[in-house]
Amino acid sequence: MPVRALLHYALEVPDQAVGEKFYRAFGLVGEPARDNAVHLRPAPLKREYARLYAGPRKRLHHLAFGAPDENFEAVRESIRRAGVREVDPPRGVPDGGLWIRDPDGNYLNVRPEGREEPPPDPPPAINTPGHVARETVRGCPERTLEIAPRKLGHVLFFTPDVARQIDFYTRVLGLKLSDRVKNFVAFLRCTTDHHNLAFLESNGPGFHHASFQVGSLDEIALGAMRMRDAGWQQGWGVGRHVIGSNYFYYTRDPWGSFAEYYHDLDYIPEQCAWVPRDFPEEDSLYRWGPTPPPEFVENTELT
Ligand SMILES: [Fe+2]
Repeated sequence: MPVRALLHYALEVPDQAVGEKFYRAFGLVGEPARDNAVHLRPAPLKREYARLYAGPRKRLHHLAFGAPDENFEAVRESIRRAGVREVDPPRGVPDGGLWIRDPDGNYLNVRPEGREEPPPDPPPAINTPGHVARETVRGCPERTLEIAPRKLGHVLFFTPDVARQIDFYTRVLGLKLSDRVKNFVAFLRCTTDHHNLAFLESNGPGFHHASFQVGSLDEIALGAMRMRDAGWQQGWGVGRHVIGSNYFYYTRDPWGSFAEYYHDLDYIPEQCAWVPRDFPEEDSLYRWGPTPPPEFVENTELT
């Protein structure tokens, strides 16, 4: 049985205060630190989903998955069968679970925990041709609409070998391949979300972005405006991805990686006849939106 939740990601960053300022502007809330890391979470959730450790330069510190109940021992057994060695955790990390490294050397923590779902929004009321869902009510959001990330949806890493990462995460941890562009980008899931983990081909490993769900396209676009007004000018979007279908906006973080707002991602029930597709390369990034800036696919950890 596989891992069933993406619990949190942790970065090492050269300035934790700047990192906290960035993610708070983005809409996450801070937890009083109980250790040497900054802890951040979407406001509706109880646990932290992002951690910032101090380090000489930005890089992934670790990634945590959840495998609740009997899944935990099953994952441990799968790791053993695959001949993957459990390792000592890096210093200062949360207690619990087991630790391994993926083929790129990324530290992974598998914890005996399930996932936490945010409370549902009211159903959307959108008027479309032939379908009236909103009568005598004005639809434009207030200028003050709260930008409130609901949950961590996925993270995307650079890797020098996309195929090797697909093999490791599907075989050892039980993730499923959702879609890909062969040897260039791959999207995997451990929940009903189209993807929780994705890989983009590069000359080496690196952290590209973490993505948080928001409640509407308005929230993405207003969130983008607010980030720009707050001085975080660089980014990409608003647009719509082909793979996963979600609307997006990416704000560039202080270290050249990104934080994404997403809305309306494809949903894949656990038992269903979903067939992963090999998309052509021109579908890798988007169906519509502004042209991506060149730095969007730059692995700044290699420079
Ligand atoms: Fe994304």
